[in-house]
Amino acid sequence: MGNQPFLFSLLLLFAIAHPPPVCGNAELRALMDLKASLDPENALLNTWTPLGDPCDGSFEGVACNEKGQVANISLQGKGLAGRVSPAIAGLRHLTGLYLHYNSLYGEIPREVSNLTELIDLYLNVNNMTGSIPPELGNMASLQVLQLCYNQFTGSIPRQLGSLKKLSVLALQSNRLTGAIPASLGDLGMLMRLDLSFNHLFGSIPTRLADAPMLGVLDVRNNTLSGNVPPALKRLVQGFQYENNPGLCGVGFSALSACRTLNRVNPNRPEPFEGSTTGLATRDIPETADLKLNCSQTRCSHSSKAPQASVIVGVIVVTFTLAAVVFLTFSQYRRRKQKLGSSFDIPDNRVSTDQPVEVYRKNGSPLISLEYPNGWDPLADGRNIGNFSQEALQSFRFNLEEIESATQYFARKNLLGRSNFSATYKGILRDGSFVAIKSISKTSCKTEEAEFLKGLNILTSLGHDNLVRLRGFCCSRGRGECFLVYDFVPNGNLLGYLDLKEGDNRVLEWSTRVSIINGIAKGIEYLHGCTMNKPPVVHQNISAEKVLIDHRFKPSLSDSGLHKLLTNDTVFSALKACAAMGYLAPEYTTTGRFTEKSDIYAYGVLVLQILSGKRKLTSSIRVATELCKFPDFIDKNLHGRFSEHEAATIVKVALMCTHESPEKRPSMEAIIQELGNCTNCF
Ligand SMILES: *[C@@H]1O[C@H](CO)[C@@H](O)[C@H](O)[C@H]1NC(C)=O
Ligand SMILES: *[C@@H]1O[C@H](CO)[C@@H](O)[C@H](O)[C@H]1NC(C)=O
Ligand SMILES: *[C@@H]1O[C@H](CO)[C@@H](O)[C@H](O)[C@H]1NC(C)=O
Ligand SMILES: *[C@@H]1O[C@H](CO)[C@@H](O)[C@H](O)[C@H]1NC(C)=O
Ligand SMILES: *[C@@H]1O[C@H](CO)[C@@H](O)[C@H](O)[C@H]1NC(C)=O
Repeated sequence: MGNQPFLFSLLLLFAIAHPPPVCGNAELRALMDLKASLDPENALLNTWTPLGDPCDGSFEGVACNEKGQVANISLQGKGLAGRVSPAIAGLRHLTGLYLHYNSLYGEIPREVSNLTELIDLYLNVNNMTGSIPPELGNMASLQVLQLCYNQFTGSIPRQLGSLKKLSVLALQSNRLTGAIPASLGDLGMLMRLDLSFNHLFGSIPTRLADAPMLGVLDVRNNTLSGNVPPALKRLVQGFQYENNPGLCGVGFSALSACRTLNRVNPNRPEPFEGSTTGLATRDIPETADLKLNCSQTRCSHSSKAPQASVIVGVIVVTFTLAAVVFLTFSQYRRRKQKLGSSFDIPDNRVSTDQPVEVYRKNGSPLISLEYPNGWDPLADGRNIGNFSQEALQSFRFNLEEIESATQYFARKNLLGRSNFSATYKGILRDGSFVAIKSISKTSCKTEEAEFLKGLNILTSLGHDNLVRLRGFCCSRGRGECFLVYDFVPNGNLLGYLDLKEGDNRVLEWSTRVSIINGIAKGIEYLHGCTMNKPPVVHQNISAEKVLIDHRFKPSLSDSGLHKLLTNDTVFSALKACAAMGYLAPEYTTTGRFTEKSDIYAYGVLVLQILSGKRKLTSSIRVATELCKFPDFIDKNLHGRFSEHEAATIVKVALMCTHESPEKRPSMEAIIQELGNCTNCF
């Protein structure tokens, strides 16, 4: 027993006497100091241990370069509630410090400026105070300085004008005062400058317009005054200046010409440069190359819808029904238009010449707040219902991540498009592949509470046979919400139907059986109710929604998506589904989706998988009923299938597609039935 202290000191001695490389040890000390201040309760950074190796991947959020030096610290959204320690200066080779979206307080230690290799400094969306240290001007490598959404006071140091490589300076939503330093016009690489929602005063320096790369300048909600530099007109919509009552200028739509020849507002001090001129434009999304129209056309057809599929057999009825459904739609719509429903107002007014104002006034508050270069509008944690902030954070993506993952929505990454969404392939920073679905704001539920409820449900879903939602991001600037899903490599089931003989995509029998089983499990999970999730009706099951991975495991996509969309959007998606024959007949009378309508669609899908055909004809229906398998099971299988299994599966499919919803089995019963069948082998 008495040996313990001795052993311990020996161990300690050993640790001190045999450090890894000397530099590593200094960095380790710096990390431990940093940890003590970032996470004073020692609740969140347990993996940072004094005897550990920061470079072996065991330290959460720490990444090293190939020389074994700490290069990046990524602790965004971790709930850290401490300070940034001056010890940070000890990490001499740091290139990225990502501490945004925490609850950090206190000042920025001026020692940060010793990090001359630092490229990215993200301290945005914290609760930090004090002034911005002028020493930051020494950080020669700095490219992105994100300090927005804090409580910084004082003025903007003119020394920031020395940051030759700076491309993004985001200072919005602080309490900064004073003038805009003209030196910022010297920043040769500056592309985005956001100073909005501060207490800046004085004029906009003429020199600012000299910054050659400047594309976005946001000075909204300050108390700036005087003539706006006319050269800023070149930024067009990139220049946002509303809510600065003292600004005037010629050539900017929302500004009146300056009254006097006196270029300086005599009531305002002009601390740095007084020369001013006219400017103005309307605020507009930063990268609005993707505009999805849903308002005028009312999403009358989906680009993904198959060309005029005429379907007989199981579906023969549905064709007629679809027509009835369409009538129902138009009635529904006419009724809605008469009522002037809340969906219509924003859409119609968007087409006026003041789009963004409308967004702000009538749009949901969800979209009305944006962190222009960063976090989505849910970020301030309000109104998130009973969903824990922690869980929400783990799902939140940053617009920059979305943009860089998709290479700014490069056309080559476009996987598909419908009339309310576009899907892009992307690679996240961790190297994983994702599919990013963008949904235009006009297609999303207008009630914030409803939308968030839907989001809660979406994020609560997790099953092996559902495509995994990694996160989301909503951007008012782009007018879009993004859902980030795991990328499933082998396309959707539609690509495995209607194949020619000898096509190597022809699925073997056993693969088909396992796909049929897998989809059933996914739907059963959706329909079920657990502690964590309510029952969810998919509403849009089809071959297109079944994605196939490299081991041919099926995953159902878009589960719960309708919970985010306006009714109109859901209805438009539905038409595609009706045309394909997945729509349960009772829908036309009840107008409601139930578990049983999902079961119906599943039955149709099973018959498609068995027959290998997109369109199910009446002869297929007859053949199934007579158990004449060779007549309808995919000829490409050349008879290589089990009649016994086929019999069970066909029976299930027929029960599922029963006219009367009450006669259709539950998913649980289906799985039992299918299980019995699989057990025979
Ligand atoms: C640090 O982060 C940057 C930006 O995400 C990345 O490009 C770089 O590869 C990272 N470095 C290391 C060593 O992980
Ligand atoms: C920062 O750098 C200066 C000189 O470059 C040096 O004197 C100072 O000790 C450094 N501070 C820290 C905390 O490393
Ligand atoms: C930020 O700090 C203020 C006091 O300085 C405190 O009242 C407030 O609750 C803090 N906010 C957050 C989100 O931590
Ligand atoms: C911005 O300015 C407008 C007009 O003065 C004001 O109504 C609005 O509340 C301000 N917004 C913020 C976030 O301060
Ligand atoms: C959107 O609608 C406008 C007119 O309403 C049209 O000029 C534009 O081409 C449409 N854009 C797309 C992507 O369909």
